[in-house]
Amino acid sequence: MTKFLRITPTLGLKGEIHIPGDKSISHRAIMLGALARGETIVNNFLPSADCLATAECFRAMGIGIEVRGMRCEVRGNGLKGLMGPKKTLDAGNSGTTIRLLSGILAGQEFEVKITGDESIQRRPMGRIAKPLRLMGASIEGKIRNSEVFAPLKIIGGGLCPIRYELPVPSAQVKSAILLAGLFANGETVVVENLTSRDHTERMLTHFGGAIKVTGRESRVTGCQEFSGQEVDVPGDISSAAFFLIAGLLAPNSELKLLNVGLNPTRTGIIDVLHRMGASIEVIRERMLSEEPRADIIVRSSKLGAVKLDGEIIPRIIDEIPIIAVAATQAEGVTEIRGAKELRIKESDRIRTVASEFRKLGAEVEELEDGLRIPGPQKLKGAVLQSYGDHRIAMSMAIAGLVATGATTIENADCIETSFPGFESLLDSLRQ
Ligand code: S3P
Repeated sequence: MTKFLRITPTLGLKGEIHIPGDKSISHRAIMLGALARGETIVNNFLPSADCLATAECFRAMGIGIEVRGMRCEVRGNGLKGLMGPKKTLDAGNSGTTIRLLSGILAGQEFEVKITGDESIQRRPMGRIAKPLRLMGASIEGKIRNSEVFAPLKIIGGGLCPIRYELPVPSAQVKSAILLAGLFANGETVVVENLTSRDHTERMLTHFGGAIKVTGRESRVTGCQEFSGQEVDVPGDISSAAFFLIAGLLAPNSELKLLNVGLNPTRTGIIDVLHRMGASIEVIRERMLSEEPRADIIVRSSKLGAVKLDGEIIPRIIDEIPIIAVAATQAEGVTEIRGAKELRIKESDRIRTVASEFRKLGAEVEELEDGLRIPGPQKLKGAVLQSYGDHRIAMSMAIAGLVATGATTIENADCIETSFPGFESLLDSLRQ
């Protein structure tokens, strides 16, 4: 039976919590640890289903990886140390796993197959296949409407460096090319039109790799060896976002979120909430493993609507469903545009947000590239679907906190993808 989540309204949320480790950074720590020589220790690792899928793929290629709670040890065999797996690699529900790993696989001398769950098999892979083929890899997948889908068969090796302008701002595509660039003889350059998250570049720097970033251009030098490191993963700001909005919308609330990653390519959510009039204070800013982090204090606030488009979108791409929840309680009409990428995430997040909001009795307009949401609106508890999408499940749970009556989220076990312990953490804050 799939788990469901039952949420009732809250009179207030109070407390101090640790946000689990960043998903994007945890994936990258395993990947670079596996390509480095010697031991890498990852502290505050996120042991969620997505990151465990990455670990399992590398184990299948001969890398020793041990996960004990929030500590992960990776014993890398150097840049050329992966072995051809005996079975098809399984990325589960994780887009980061299949896309970044494809970049690494493009550099290997062996043939390999990689796939994932139903949702992964519906997500476009042409965006990575195209540049990786330009570098010399052979990548075959299922073709539908001229798009490439998993399962992918990759025959790599003998890569040449390229200069590539990203047609869509995507950290997954940028990272796949940079990781493939590690295996190409010369300098691989990726140019973005809008800045996407730069965790791969920072992690490479932390491992002592030769990577240069100037403006929107990232350059990596191929065939460099690096050695194992200790990595301290900050809390995931995308997971913190659910508690930021919960603390803002619930009455009489004050929350302190500890050790939250504040990489400027990810802090769009703080900027947006400040623009909406939120009481959010950032304290104890510090830097560790090349990634900035801080504690955040959030208090119940009256919010106003915002218009979001352009450069901010890649900086809030994973937070748009929860920003939409905040918009239902903000004064005025919130408009989110330029976010068509949401249609090809774990679910079509424009459609799934709109359909679940309507079940809560909220008015919402679905746009081709975003959402228009008037506020403030009264929400009525309802039975909602997650569509197997962790961020939809958690966004609807927070909506349930400010709805009247009880809200049930069906098929909520997908929350394990990024946030094990979400439900009990939320319950621990109730007054
Ligand atoms: C991620 C990049 C983003 C984001 C995803 C994680 C990453 O995807 O939505 O959750 O770890 O690089 P895109 O690169 O497709 O925008």
